[in-house]
Amino acid sequence: MYFFKDSDKITSEFVSALKNPIIPKNKEQLFVGVDLGTAYIVICVLDENKKPIAGAYRFAQVVKDGLVLDYLGALKIVKQLKKEIEDKIGCELKNAAVAIPPGTTINDTRYLKNVVEGAGFEVINVVDEPTAANAVLGIKNGVVVDIGGGTTGLAIIKDGKIVSVADEPTGGTQCTLVIAGNYRISFEEAEIIKQDPQKQEEVSGLLKPVAQKIASIIKKHIEKYNIDGIYLVGGTSCLLNIEKVIEKDLKIKTYKPRNPHFVTPIGIAMNCIQDKNSDQYGY
Ligand SMILES: Nc1ncnc2c1ncn2[C@@H]1O[C@H](COP(=O)(O)OP(=O)(O)OP(=O)(O)O)[C@@H](O)[C@H]1O
Ligand SMILES: [Mg+2]
Repeated sequence: MYFFKDSDKITSEFVSALKNPIIPKNKEQLFVGVDLGTAYIVICVLDENKKPIAGAYRFAQVVKDGLVLDYLGALKIVKQLKKEIEDKIGCELKNAAVAIPPGTTINDTRYLKNVVEGAGFEVINVVDEPTAANAVLGIKNGVVVDIGGGTTGLAIIKDGKIVSVADEPTGGTQCTLVIAGNYRISFEEAEIIKQDPQKQEEVSGLLKPVAQKIASIIKKHIEKYNIDGIYLVGGTSCLLNIEKVIEKDLKIKTYKPRNPHFVTPIGIAMNCIQDKNSDQYGY
């Protein structure tokens, strides 16, 4: 059975909206998600019916695992992306939701929020990343695993409810470092090789230990639960056959959607609704 029909539709619409933005009919009711990732900063805009209408993203190393490393750098990029989208769709982006890796402290969350507010948004909700991802996937039972640049985040879902979340280091940055070390090339050159579909077969053997490490992280966190499906999202899920390595190691069916790198940013935007429990994040 293929689980991702609806999510593939929405991520494809987002890919298309990145190139061809759609002017919204109702400019007052937009859902905006800002994903300050370790590898990419992504802004996703949905219309009043939660259909993707615009977005922008940039490769940037200004945030690491939910921790702002370069406040001014992050601020500048979010401002630029915001303006880029506003110019394309002809209206101002006001409210936004942001996401944090599970376990991020209140202080680090405030810092992330400050970046987004400093860029001119009002942050009306903060969600954790795998929870955001499941807003798009709609998995009822299983584990959603967001394999990003810096970390692997998990949300265990039972009967449609998230019962446990976790986040651990290991992600795409580590894969790039392995390639750079092996071929004695720069990080940037290694990143290009890693994302080149022609070269992925060649490097997949090299990256297998990293995929196995990710499998062991998943194993550790799902031990207490009866899990019969693993659902991968995040940019590093794009790696050729990563789902096969995980499935083989854990002996649990593992699935990945199309465009796994855009699932979480779209899910953040879907959560752009006033949070009633915002006190827990200190705002
Ligand atoms: N086609 C691809 N093949 C392999 N890896 C890819 C591909 N596209 C993106 N990646 C990798 O995915 C990672 C970025 O994924 P994503 O945007 O989900 O992470 P992030 O949100 O920036 O990081 P994090 O969630 O860990 O803070 C990078 O390491 C990038 O190299
Ligand atoms: Mg991420």
